[in-house]
Amino acid sequence: MSPKPVVLKVGGSAITFKDKPLTPNLRAMKRLAGEIRRAEVSNLIIVHGGGSFGHPIAKEYAIKDGFKTENQNIGFCWTHNAMVTLNSLFVNALIQNGVCAVTVAPSSCILTKQGRIRIFQDKALTKLLEKGFVPVLYGDAVIDLAKGFTILSGDQLVSNLAIKFEAERIVVGVDVDGLYTADPKTNSSAKLIKKVTLEKLKQLQKDVGGSQTVDVTGGMFGKIRELTSAVEKGIPVLIVNAAKPNRIYKALKNEKVLGTHISRGENNH
Ligand code: IPE
Repeated sequence: MSPKPVVLKVGGSAITFKDKPLTPNLRAMKRLAGEIRRAEVSNLIIVHGGGSFGHPIAKEYAIKDGFKTENQNIGFCWTHNAMVTLNSLFVNALIQNGVCAVTVAPSSCILTKQGRIRIFQDKALTKLLEKGFVPVLYGDAVIDLAKGFTILSGDQLVSNLAIKFEAERIVVGVDVDGLYTADPKTNSSAKLIKKVTLEKLKQLQKDVGGSQTVDVTGGMFGKIRELTSAVEKGIPVLIVNAAKPNRIYKALKNEKVLGTHISRGENNH
Protein backbone atom coordinates (compact mmCIF):
# COMPACT_ATOMS: atom_id res chain seq x y z
CA MET A 1 0.00 0.00 0.00
CA SER A 2 1.33 3.45 -0.85
CA PRO A 3 2.01 5.83 2.03
CA LYS A 4 -0.53 8.44 3.05
CA PRO A 5 -0.25 11.51 0.85
CA VAL A 6 1.25 14.82 1.79
CA VAL A 7 -0.78 17.84 0.64
CA LEU A 8 1.33 20.86 -0.25
CA LYS A 9 -0.18 24.31 -0.65
CA VAL A 10 1.99 26.81 -2.44
CA GLY A 11 0.54 30.24 -1.68
CA GLY A 12 -0.02 32.59 -4.56
CA SER A 13 2.32 35.06 -2.85
CA ALA A 14 5.17 32.56 -3.23
CA ILE A 15 4.90 32.13 -7.01
CA THR A 16 3.69 35.58 -8.12
CA PHE A 17 4.60 39.15 -7.30
CA LYS A 18 1.49 39.81 -5.27
CA ASP A 19 1.42 43.60 -5.80
CA LYS A 20 2.05 43.43 -9.58
CA PRO A 21 -1.02 42.13 -11.45
CA LEU A 22 -0.44 39.04 -13.60
CA THR A 23 3.27 38.86 -12.82
CA PRO A 24 4.69 35.38 -12.19
CA ASN A 25 7.78 34.83 -10.06
CA LEU A 26 9.45 32.38 -12.42
CA ARG A 27 12.65 32.16 -10.36
CA ALA A 28 10.70 31.18 -7.26
CA MET A 29 8.71 28.62 -9.27
CA LYS A 30 11.91 27.06 -10.55
CA ARG A 31 13.51 26.93 -7.10
CA LEU A 32 10.39 25.49 -5.50
CA ALA A 33 10.06 22.90 -8.26
CA GLY A 34 13.65 21.85 -7.55
CA GLU A 35 12.95 21.60 -3.82
CA ILE A 36 9.82 19.52 -4.45
CA ARG A 37 11.78 17.22 -6.76
CA ARG A 38 14.65 16.77 -4.29
CA ALA A 39 12.27 15.99 -1.42
CA GLU A 40 11.01 12.94 -3.37
CA VAL A 41 7.68 12.65 -1.57
CA SER A 42 6.21 9.45 -2.92
CA ASN A 43 2.56 10.46 -2.62
CA LEU A 44 2.07 14.18 -3.13
CA ILE A 45 -0.80 16.48 -4.03
CA ILE A 46 -0.02 20.12 -4.80
CA VAL A 47 -2.46 23.02 -4.61
CA HIS A 48 -1.41 26.55 -5.49
CA GLY A 49 -3.02 29.89 -4.88
CA GLY A 50 -3.90 32.82 -7.07
CA GLY A 51 -1.59 35.63 -5.97
CA SER A 52 -1.59 38.47 -8.48
CA PHE A 53 -3.22 36.27 -11.15
CA GLY A 54 -6.54 35.25 -9.61
CA HIS A 55 -7.28 37.80 -6.93
CA PRO A 56 -7.33 41.19 -8.71
CA ILE A 57 -9.60 40.01 -11.55
CA ALA A 58 -11.87 38.06 -9.19
CA LYS A 59 -12.22 41.20 -7.08
CA GLU A 60 -12.86 43.51 -10.03
CA TYR A 61 -15.81 41.36 -11.13
CA ALA A 62 -16.96 40.35 -7.62
CA ILE A 63 -16.85 36.68 -8.63
CA LYS A 64 -16.83 35.42 -5.03
CA ASP A 65 -20.18 37.09 -4.33
CA GLY A 66 -21.85 35.05 -7.07
CA PHE A 67 -23.77 35.91 -10.20
CA LYS A 68 -25.58 39.26 -10.11
CA THR A 69 -25.21 40.67 -13.62
CA GLU A 70 -24.38 39.29 -17.07
CA ASN A 71 -21.19 41.31 -17.38
CA GLN A 72 -19.62 39.32 -14.54
CA ASN A 73 -19.53 36.28 -16.81
CA ILE A 74 -16.54 37.55 -18.75
CA GLY A 75 -14.84 38.18 -15.38
CA PHE A 76 -15.47 34.54 -14.41
CA CYS A 77 -13.72 33.52 -17.66
CA TRP A 78 -10.82 35.93 -17.11
CA THR A 79 -10.32 34.76 -13.53
CA HIS A 80 -10.27 31.10 -14.52
CA ASN A 81 -8.06 31.86 -17.51
CA ALA A 82 -5.54 33.74 -15.35
CA MET A 83 -5.38 30.73 -13.03
CA VAL A 84 -4.91 28.37 -15.97
CA THR A 85 -1.99 30.54 -17.15
CA LEU A 86 -0.39 30.61 -13.69
CA ASN A 87 -0.93 26.87 -13.28
CA SER A 88 0.65 26.11 -16.62
CA LEU A 89 3.77 28.13 -15.72
CA PHE A 90 4.12 26.33 -12.38
CA VAL A 91 3.39 22.87 -13.78
CA ASN A 92 5.92 23.59 -16.54
CA ALA A 93 8.57 24.39 -13.92
CA LEU A 94 7.70 21.21 -12.02
CA ILE A 95 7.96 19.00 -15.11
CA GLN A 96 11.21 20.65 -16.17
CA ASN A 97 12.61 19.71 -12.77
CA GLY A 98 11.52 16.11 -13.14
CA VAL A 99 8.31 16.18 -11.09
CA CYS A 100 5.56 14.14 -12.81
CA ALA A 101 3.01 16.93 -12.36
CA VAL A 102 -0.44 16.83 -13.96
CA THR A 103 -3.00 19.64 -13.77
CA VAL A 104 -6.39 18.85 -12.30
CA ALA A 105 -8.59 21.88 -13.00
CA PRO A 106 -10.98 22.45 -10.06
CA SER A 107 -13.60 24.21 -12.22
CA SER A 108 -13.91 21.01 -14.29
CA CYS A 109 -14.49 18.60 -11.41
CA ILE A 110 -15.83 20.63 -8.47
CA LEU A 111 -19.15 22.32 -7.73
CA THR A 112 -19.67 24.38 -4.60
CA LYS A 113 -22.86 25.36 -2.77
CA GLN A 114 -22.72 28.70 -0.96
CA GLY A 115 -18.97 28.62 -1.43
CA ARG A 116 -18.43 25.18 0.10
CA ILE A 117 -17.34 22.14 -1.94
CA ARG A 118 -20.48 20.08 -2.59
CA ILE A 119 -19.57 17.81 -5.52
CA PHE A 120 -16.04 16.65 -6.26
CA GLN A 121 -15.59 14.18 -9.10
CA ASP A 122 -12.28 12.81 -7.97
CA LYS A 123 -11.87 9.52 -9.88
CA ALA A 124 -9.28 10.86 -12.31
CA LEU A 125 -7.39 12.55 -9.46
CA THR A 126 -7.41 9.32 -7.42
CA LYS A 127 -6.09 7.29 -10.37
CA LEU A 128 -3.38 9.86 -11.12
CA LEU A 129 -2.23 9.61 -7.49
CA GLU A 130 -2.32 5.82 -7.56
CA LYS A 131 -0.13 5.81 -10.65
CA GLY A 132 2.46 8.00 -8.97
CA PHE A 133 1.64 11.30 -10.68
CA VAL A 134 1.55 14.53 -8.74
CA PRO A 135 -1.87 16.17 -9.23
CA VAL A 136 -1.64 19.96 -9.23
CA LEU A 137 -4.82 21.87 -8.36
CA TYR A 138 -5.35 25.55 -7.67
CA GLY A 139 -7.76 28.10 -6.25
CA ASP A 140 -10.25 28.68 -9.04
CA ALA A 141 -13.44 30.30 -10.25
CA VAL A 142 -16.03 27.51 -9.98
CA ILE A 143 -19.73 26.97 -10.57
CA ASP A 144 -21.75 27.34 -7.37
CA LEU A 145 -25.11 25.54 -7.07
CA ALA A 146 -26.65 28.39 -5.08
CA LYS A 147 -24.84 31.56 -6.19
CA GLY A 148 -24.17 30.77 -9.84
CA PHE A 149 -20.42 30.92 -9.40
CA THR A 150 -17.84 31.75 -6.77
CA ILE A 151 -14.16 31.58 -5.90
CA LEU A 152 -12.94 28.35 -4.38
CA SER A 153 -9.81 29.05 -2.34
CA GLY A 154 -6.78 26.81 -2.55
CA ASP A 155 -7.00 26.49 1.24
CA GLN A 156 -10.50 25.00 1.20
CA LEU A 157 -9.26 22.60 -1.47
CA VAL A 158 -6.26 21.64 0.67
CA SER A 159 -8.44 20.76 3.68
CA ASN A 160 -10.91 18.87 1.53
CA LEU A 161 -8.20 16.86 -0.24
CA ALA A 162 -6.31 16.13 2.98
CA ILE A 163 -9.46 14.75 4.63
CA LYS A 164 -10.60 12.86 1.52
CA PHE A 165 -7.24 11.17 0.98
CA GLU A 166 -6.44 10.81 4.71
CA ALA A 167 -3.27 12.83 4.31
CA GLU A 168 -0.34 12.25 6.61
CA ARG A 169 0.17 16.01 6.89
CA ILE A 170 -0.31 19.35 5.21
CA VAL A 171 2.51 21.74 4.33
CA VAL A 172 1.55 25.33 3.56
CA GLY A 173 4.10 27.65 1.94
CA VAL A 174 3.46 31.37 2.36
CA ASP A 175 5.58 34.54 2.14
CA VAL A 176 6.16 34.93 5.88
CA ASP A 177 7.82 32.53 8.35
CA GLY A 178 4.51 31.22 9.71
CA LEU A 179 1.71 32.49 11.91
CA TYR A 180 2.41 35.56 13.97
CA THR A 181 0.77 37.15 16.96
CA ALA A 182 0.16 40.18 14.68
CA ASP A 183 0.87 41.05 11.03
CA PRO A 184 4.69 40.93 10.79
CA LYS A 185 4.67 43.19 7.72
CA THR A 186 3.15 46.10 9.59
CA ASN A 187 3.83 45.33 13.24
CA SER A 188 7.44 44.99 14.40
CA SER A 189 6.44 43.45 17.75
CA ALA A 190 4.76 40.51 15.98
CA LYS A 191 6.08 37.16 17.26
CA LEU A 192 6.26 33.89 15.36
CA ILE A 193 4.10 31.14 16.83
CA LYS A 194 6.13 27.95 16.47
CA LYS A 195 3.59 25.50 17.85
CA VAL A 196 -0.12 25.81 18.33
CA THR A 197 -2.93 23.43 19.22
CA LEU A 198 -6.44 23.53 17.88
CA GLU A 199 -7.70 25.01 21.12
CA LYS A 200 -5.31 27.97 20.88
CA LEU A 201 -6.02 28.30 17.18
CA LYS A 202 -9.50 29.63 17.84
CA GLN A 203 -8.02 32.46 19.86
CA LEU A 204 -5.49 33.07 17.09
CA GLN A 205 -8.24 33.49 14.54
CA LYS A 206 -9.23 36.58 16.45
CA ASP A 207 -5.67 37.82 16.93
CA VAL A 208 -3.78 37.27 13.66
CA GLY A 209 -3.94 40.14 11.19
CA GLY A 210 -5.18 39.64 7.61
CA SER A 211 -2.91 40.03 4.59
CA GLN A 212 -2.47 43.54 3.26
CA THR A 213 -2.80 43.03 -0.50
CA VAL A 214 -5.95 42.15 -2.44
CA ASP A 215 -7.05 38.71 -1.29
CA VAL A 216 -10.61 37.78 -2.07
CA THR A 217 -10.38 34.54 -0.12
CA GLY A 218 -9.47 35.83 3.32
CA GLY A 219 -5.68 36.05 3.75
CA MET A 220 -4.21 34.41 6.85
CA PHE A 221 -7.58 34.49 8.65
CA GLY A 222 -9.15 32.41 5.92
CA LYS A 223 -6.18 30.08 5.79
CA ILE A 224 -6.39 29.15 9.46
CA ARG A 225 -10.14 28.78 9.39
CA GLU A 226 -9.99 26.45 6.39
CA LEU A 227 -7.16 24.35 7.78
CA THR A 228 -8.96 23.84 11.09
CA SER A 229 -11.25 21.13 9.71
CA ALA A 230 -8.27 19.00 8.63
CA VAL A 231 -6.47 19.53 11.95
CA GLU A 232 -9.67 18.44 13.75
CA LYS A 233 -9.37 15.12 11.91
CA GLY A 234 -5.83 14.72 13.27
CA ILE A 235 -3.96 15.93 10.19
CA PRO A 236 -1.12 18.22 11.31
CA VAL A 237 -0.35 21.41 9.41
CA LEU A 238 3.04 23.05 9.01
CA ILE A 239 3.17 26.62 7.72
CA VAL A 240 6.57 27.70 6.36
CA ASN A 241 8.09 30.52 4.34
CA ALA A 242 8.18 29.34 0.71
CA ALA A 243 10.11 32.48 -0.30
CA LYS A 244 13.13 31.31 1.72
CA PRO A 245 15.24 28.59 0.09
CA ASN A 246 14.96 25.05 1.45
CA ARG A 247 12.08 25.69 3.85
CA ILE A 248 9.61 23.81 1.62
CA TYR A 249 12.24 21.12 1.01
CA LYS A 250 12.81 20.59 4.73
CA ALA A 251 9.09 20.70 5.48
CA LEU A 252 8.40 18.05 2.84
CA LYS A 253 11.25 15.90 4.16
CA ASN A 254 9.84 16.25 7.66
CA GLU A 255 13.12 17.80 8.80
CA LYS A 256 13.36 20.46 11.49
CA VAL A 257 12.43 23.81 9.95
CA LEU A 258 11.32 27.26 11.05
CA GLY A 259 7.56 27.62 10.81
CA THR A 260 4.26 27.10 12.61
CA HIS A 261 3.18 23.59 13.55
CA ILE A 262 -0.56 23.22 14.08
CA SER A 263 -1.78 20.01 15.69
CA ARG A 264 -4.97 18.69 17.25
CA GLY A 265 -3.41 18.80 20.63
CA GLU A 266 -3.66 15.51 22.49
CA ASN A 267 -0.37 14.24 21.11
CA ASN A 268 2.71 16.00 19.85
CA HIS A 269 2.49 15.61 16.09
C1 IPE B 1 -7.45 32.07 -4.88
O1 IPE B 1 -6.79 31.01 -4.28
C2 IPE B 1 -7.80 31.78 -6.31
C3 IPE B 1 -8.46 32.90 -7.03
C4 IPE B 1 -8.58 34.12 -6.59
C5 IPE B 1 -9.01 32.56 -8.33
P1 IPE B 1 -6.07 31.20 -2.86
O2 IPE B 1 -6.92 32.01 -1.96
O3 IPE B 1 -5.70 29.85 -2.38
O4 IPE B 1 -4.79 32.04 -3.27
P2 IPE B 1 -3.60 32.66 -2.41
O5 IPE B 1 -2.70 31.56 -2.02
O6 IPE B 1 -4.21 33.34 -1.20
O7 IPE B 1 -2.96 33.64 -3.35
